[in-house]
Amino acid sequence: MTTTPSQEDYIEAIWLLIKNKGYARVTDIADYLGINDASVSKMIQKLDDGGFLIYERYRGLNLTPVGYHLGNMLFERHQKLEAFLNCLGMENAQEVHQIVEGIEHHFSSGALDRIENLTAYIQLYPEWWKNFIDWTKKNET
Ligand code: FE2
Repeated sequence: MTTTPSQEDYIEAIWLLIKNKGYARVTDIADYLGINDASVSKMIQKLDDGGFLIYERYRGLNLTPVGYHLGNMLFERHQKLEAFLNCLGMENAQEVHQIVEGIEHHFSSGALDRIENLTAYIQLYPEWWKNFIDWTKKNET
């Protein structure tokens, strides 16, 4: 089943909340995404129907293996894109996070692999990249 950008945001948020707190309640998800509880409940039902999580009214929710695997992949995709923007000299964590939230849904795994390779290469051989960054700073207006 393919997922929409909005569904991906939810699954990533739920995965992260469960990883950090051990659980994800509707209110936690609403706070994290800045959305009201009613909208979260609606989406949770859809994600339950789609097989990504199991929601029981009084027992909270849990990701299924499919949902957990996808959440992990979405989290890693987010981290890889942040790492790349950091390499570009973008250091404001909040700004970088916001940019990645906007663009992350539009990368194929092939494109992401290439970005990840470039980031790894930059970290492995920092000198040429530092020259490039210095050059761009000189040309900034
Ligand atoms: Fe994200």
